[in-house]
Amino acid sequence: MQYFEKKDYEKEFYDKKIMITGGLGFIGSNLAHRLVNLNPSRIIIVDALIRNQGSDIKNVESIKDKIDIPFLEDGGLNIDDDKIIDYLDVDYIFNLAGSVNHLYSKKNPLEDLKINLISQIKFLETCKNYIKKNPFKKFKILFASTRDVYGKVSAEELPLKENFVLENPADPQGIHNYSAENHHLWYGKTFDFPVVSLRLTNTYGPRQKINDSGQGFLGHFIYKTLRNEVIELWGGGKNLRDFNYVDDVVEAMIMAIASEKTNYNTYNLGSFMKKENKYQEIGNNICSIKKSAEIIVKISESGFCKEINYPEENKNIEPGHVYLDATKIHKDIGWEPKTSFENGILKTIHFYKEHPHYLNDDIKNKIPFLNLNEHHKNMLNEIDNAMKKVIHKSNFVLGEELQKFEEEFAKYCGKKYGVGVGNGTDALKISLTALNIKKGDEVIVPVNTAIPTAMAIKDIGAEVCFVDCNENYLIDTNKIEEKINEKTRAIIPVHLYGKVCNMDKIEEISRKYNLKIIEDCCQAHGSLYKGKKTPITSIGCFSFYPSKNLGCFGDGGMIVSDDEELIKKIKLLRNYGQSSRYSADIIGINSRLDEIQASILRIKLKYLQEFNNKRKNIAKLYNQLLDKKNITTPCYSEDDNYHLYVIRTKNRDKILEHLKAKNIESLIHYPIPLYMQKAFSYLMHKKEDFPNAYKFSNEILSLPIYPELKEEEIVRICKEVNSVNKTNNLS
Ligand SMILES: Cc1ncc(COP(=O)(O)O)c(C=O)c1O
Repeated sequence: MQYFEKKDYEKEFYDKKIMITGGLGFIGSNLAHRLVNLNPSRIIIVDALIRNQGSDIKNVESIKDKIDIPFLEDGGLNIDDDKIIDYLDVDYIFNLAGSVNHLYSKKNPLEDLKINLISQIKFLETCKNYIKKNPFKKFKILFASTRDVYGKVSAEELPLKENFVLENPADPQGIHNYSAENHHLWYGKTFDFPVVSLRLTNTYGPRQKINDSGQGFLGHFIYKTLRNEVIELWGGGKNLRDFNYVDDVVEAMIMAIASEKTNYNTYNLGSFMKKENKYQEIGNNICSIKKSAEIIVKISESGFCKEINYPEENKNIEPGHVYLDATKIHKDIGWEPKTSFENGILKTIHFYKEHPHYLNDDIKNKIPFLNLNEHHKNMLNEIDNAMKKVIHKSNFVLGEELQKFEEEFAKYCGKKYGVGVGNGTDALKISLTALNIKKGDEVIVPVNTAIPTAMAIKDIGAEVCFVDCNENYLIDTNKIEEKINEKTRAIIPVHLYGKVCNMDKIEEISRKYNLKIIEDCCQAHGSLYKGKKTPITSIGCFSFYPSKNLGCFGDGGMIVSDDEELIKKIKLLRNYGQSSRYSADIIGINSRLDEIQASILRIKLKYLQEFNNKRKNIAKLYNQLLDKKNITTPCYSEDDNYHLYVIRTKNRDKILEHLKAKNIESLIHYPIPLYMQKAFSYLMHKKEDFPNAYKFSNEILSLPIYPELKEEEIVRICKEVNSVNKTNNLS
C-alpha cells in the first residue's frame, strides 16, 4: 500500500494549473489560500457569485493577485456556462460549486436540482467536449459531495460507511448530490478522466457565511454567540454529528486529488477512525449538537443556548444521529483530521473577531422593504420635543394636539373638517355607521384591497359585494353597475398603492343609483385627481399606520369631510356617543387618535409633500431602469403618492426569491384576493369570478419605496430584477 508523504503531495501542485469551482465560497476560498503556497502556475476561480450560497469576493481579498477570476465584473461565471471550455486547460479541478442548504432544497427542489445536478451535468458535458477536442490533455476532478447522500439512518448503522445505500432520503439535496456524484464517476470512466468524490459533513472554520443558518448550523451558532444572541437548539440538539475543521478538509482534498489511488473512488470525510473502534465525545470530533453549542458559548464567552421543539415544517428532514466512518480515506491516503473540535472553534472564533465584517455585512448590505429608523432620523429631535410637551401637559386624549392636527390635516386634504380616530379600519366603520349603513345593506368594494376595507363593512353588520380590478389594480368601474341590487347602499373606492380611482365614473354611478361614497384613502395621503387631493367626494378615511406615507408610532386614523352635520355625528360616534362628558346622545364606540400620536403626526405632516415627491422620483427611476420586456411597471403619474411601487411579471416568484438571496426585501400586496380568503369562503365565489384579481395576485410584486431609498440602491434592485428576467425570458 502506497502512502503519500506530506511533502510528496505538496510537490504535486508545483507549476500545475488548477481550477476551483465555487472558489469564492467557504471551502473553495480556504482551498485557494492553501494552494497559493504550493506554487502552482495558475489558479482559476470559477464562481457564480451567489451570495446566499456563501460566495464572496472578500474571501480571497488577501490572495487576489495570485489567482484568476474570470468574469468577476460581469457577476461571475456559472459552471453550466459554455464559456467554461476556454478555461479547462488545467491539471486539477476541484469541483466544489453547489448549494449546501438542504432546508432550502426542500422548499425549492427544482432550483436545487438546477444548482446541484443539472449544472453539474452541463459542466461534465463541457469537460467531455474539451477532452474530445484535446485528446492528449487530461485533468483530474475532485467532486465535493455531502453526507446528505445517506439520508435518514438508524443508530445501528453508524458510523456510516461509503457503501451504505441511500434508502430513506431526508431532502432533495441528498438525492441530487448522490446523482451528481455518480454522474462524475460515469463521465470520468466513460470519457477517460480520473475522478474522486469526497463526502463532506459539517465543515466549519474561517470564511464561512455564518449569518445564514442554511450554510451550516455550526457557523450559525458561532454567529449567534459572537453577537451575544440565543442559539436555538432544535429538538434539544440531542443528535450526534461529526465536525471537521476546514483546514483538515482542504488537506483531504489536496491529498485525494494528488493520489492516483483515489481514482474513481468516493470517500467519507468524517472523524470516526476504525483504529479507535468507538467514537469519543470531542477529541474525535463527534458530539451532540447541544454539546457543540455549549463549547462554542464557553470558548466565545458570549451568547447562550436554548432548547426548543423542532420547527414543525422541518421535522421530517431531521436525519437523527449521523457521523461518518473515515477509515477508508485514512487507509488509502493516510488522511485523518488533525484539529480537535475545541481547537478548531478557538481558531474560528479568533478569525471572526479579527474580521468583524463577516458578522455585520448583512446589516450593511440589506435593502429593507421599509426603513422607518432612517425615515425618522432627521425628525427625531422635533418629535422628541413634541412628545415631551404632551407628557409635560399630561392631557393625553382629545386635547389640543389632536384638535390642531385635525385642522391641519383637513386643510392639507382641502377639506373643512377632520376627526382623529383609532385607526383606518375604525375610520371606515365609523363613516359607514354615520351614513346609516347597517345590517342587511350591501357595500360595493374592490376585491383587490387590504383586508380591513372589507372587514370594516362586515363589522358594522353589512355585506360585502366584490368587484374585480382593472389593469391599474383599482376597482373596475365598468363592472360596478352589474353588482348593484336593491340592497346596495354604498361604494368604497380604494385608492390602492396611492393611485386614485376613476372618481368621475364612480360619482356618476352613485348619482344614478343613489349610493353613498366612502373613499378608502388609507394608502393615498396627498394623492391627486384632476388637481384635487383625496378625498375627491364628500368623505375620506385615512390610516396613520406606521408604514403609511404619513404614519404615526402605533395605530391612528382620520375621517375628513366638508359635511358639518356628518362630522358632528362622527365626533359623537368615536367618543361613546357623548356630546359632552357623561352625556351620551347616540350609541358610540371608543376610537380616538391620542395626543402623543397627534403630536408626532403634526411634525411629520410638515414633510409629507417632500416625502411624496421623493417617492415620485424613485418611481420614475424604477420605471426608467426596469427592463420592460417581461415587466409591467406602473404607469407613471405625477398625481400618485407612490405609497407602494408594484410591478407585474410572470417571473414574480423567481424575482422574489432572487431578491431575498441578494438581501433585498420585497413583498406582495396582496397575495390572496379577498374572495379567496377563508373568512369570505361563505360567499362561495369561484376562482374565475374575478379574473384580473386572480391573475395579478400571482404576478404582482412590491419593490422597496421610501423617501430615504438611495439612487444606488434603486440601481442595485433594478439590476437584480432585470438579471432574473434575462435568464428567464418568457417572451
Ligand atoms: C387600503 C387600506 N384600507 C384600510 C386599512 C386599515 O387601516 P388600519 O390598519 O389603520 O386599520 C389599510 C391599512 O392597512 C389599508 O391599506
